[in-house]
Amino acid sequence: MKFINVNDIASYIDKKVTLKGWVYNSRSSGKIGFLMLRDGFGIIQCIVEKNKLGDEPFSLFKTLTQESSIKVKGLVVKNERALGGFEILVDSFEIYQLSKDYPITPKEHGVDYLMNNRHLWLRSKKQHAILKIRHRIIKSVRDFFDNNNFTLVDTPIFTPNAAEGTSTLFETDYFDEKAYLCQTGQLYGEASALAFGRHYNFGPCFRAEKSKTRRHLTEFWMVEPEIAFCNIDENMKWAENLLVHIINEVLSNNSIELKIIERDISKLQEINGPFPRLSYTECIELLKKGNYDIQWGDDFGSPEETYISAQYKKPVIVYGFPSKIKAFYMKRDPENEKVVLGMDILAPEGFGEIIGGSEREVDIKVLLDRIKEEGLNREDYEWFLDLRKYGSVPHSGFGMGIERVVAWICGLSHIRETIPFARTMTRLNP
Ligand code: 4AD
Ligand code: MG
Repeated sequence: MKFINVNDIASYIDKKVTLKGWVYNSRSSGKIGFLMLRDGFGIIQCIVEKNKLGDEPFSLFKTLTQESSIKVKGLVVKNERALGGFEILVDSFEIYQLSKDYPITPKEHGVDYLMNNRHLWLRSKKQHAILKIRHRIIKSVRDFFDNNNFTLVDTPIFTPNAAEGTSTLFETDYFDEKAYLCQTGQLYGEASALAFGRHYNFGPCFRAEKSKTRRHLTEFWMVEPEIAFCNIDENMKWAENLLVHIINEVLSNNSIELKIIERDISKLQEINGPFPRLSYTECIELLKKGNYDIQWGDDFGSPEETYISAQYKKPVIVYGFPSKIKAFYMKRDPENEKVVLGMDILAPEGFGEIIGGSEREVDIKVLLDRIKEEGLNREDYEWFLDLRKYGSVPHSGFGMGIERVVAWICGLSHIRETIPFARTMTRLNP
């Protein structure tokens, strides 16, 4: 028998339908029962009347427990007061399985307990809403690049070298060699940009982040465009347009989810381009005024990022970082050798860095010096250096961490709820 999904319910007013799902909640008083049915697409209230179903089925209804799996048949009616505006007047129901002692009850649980039960916690209203928004963000990112003539080229996960510093590499045994899990797809993205003009890759990245923070995962998802014939200013523009597109897509498609997670959407509605641009040097001055103990040349930590980004209602683009604190592939500013043509975008409301990118160094001599300075092995980068020998062009790109963006858009202070199964220094389970 054909069954329908809760999110399609509006097309079935005054019709008999079948729904399949799980008991989110149920209660009864006297001869009437209320069942909140969750089917993965939404939640709908079902009304169960003893007089209609008969004594025995009504008694059976009263045995239903949280997360029992069931099939419900009934009539769709409008009810302004019900969640979503509709409800089901139940004719009959069948049980697939009665669920016993479901570990997550409507009472408050600690986050660690919930994370241990993440495989079940995903069913909860708020977690479900966050992951629906994550899905929308990913879809909007892919649509953005696909609609702008970018080609998706997948980059490898096993890599022979480091691109983002050696301190966060995950090492694996690769037959008789060592391989590292990718920290970024960028170097391969550069090869692809010279083949396709506009490239992007989207996939998991791995970093052995040894500190416990609210913003770091050891496995996270990054989208990375890489664009030929593109300078740092144009790179900023692409990033800005991407973020505005994502916000607009989430606002127009996920109002139900944003409501469930109680996000203040006025903060998101204010976001449009152009974003304020702030040099690293200006940031240092700003931080000093805010009583931070920081000198020109120091990197920003989470508190500094939080402070800077809390000053603005829109994302802020920070540029002109000291070359010493940035990756080897970033192009030096021809007007000031001490800084690079790199950028970080900090999300507002104190959410910190969501994007990092740069114009790429194309001078092979400078690149070799930087590889040496970083203590990296030249042989591992020969193929990368080829890109500077055969038709080298100015090019730029950036990486956007999906989980950081989900945290910002959903207003979550901790990154662990932004990914289905979080991996951190202290968590590999479930
Ligand atoms: O700033 P990052 O390190 O830049 C790169 O990896 C460049 N190769 C990207 C490029 O130019 N193609 O990382 C980019 C973004 C960060 O801004 C952040 O959003 C996210 O990736 N990110 C993390 N997200 C969660 N957990 C971590 N440990 C992260 N490390 C970086
Ligand atoms: Mg960065």
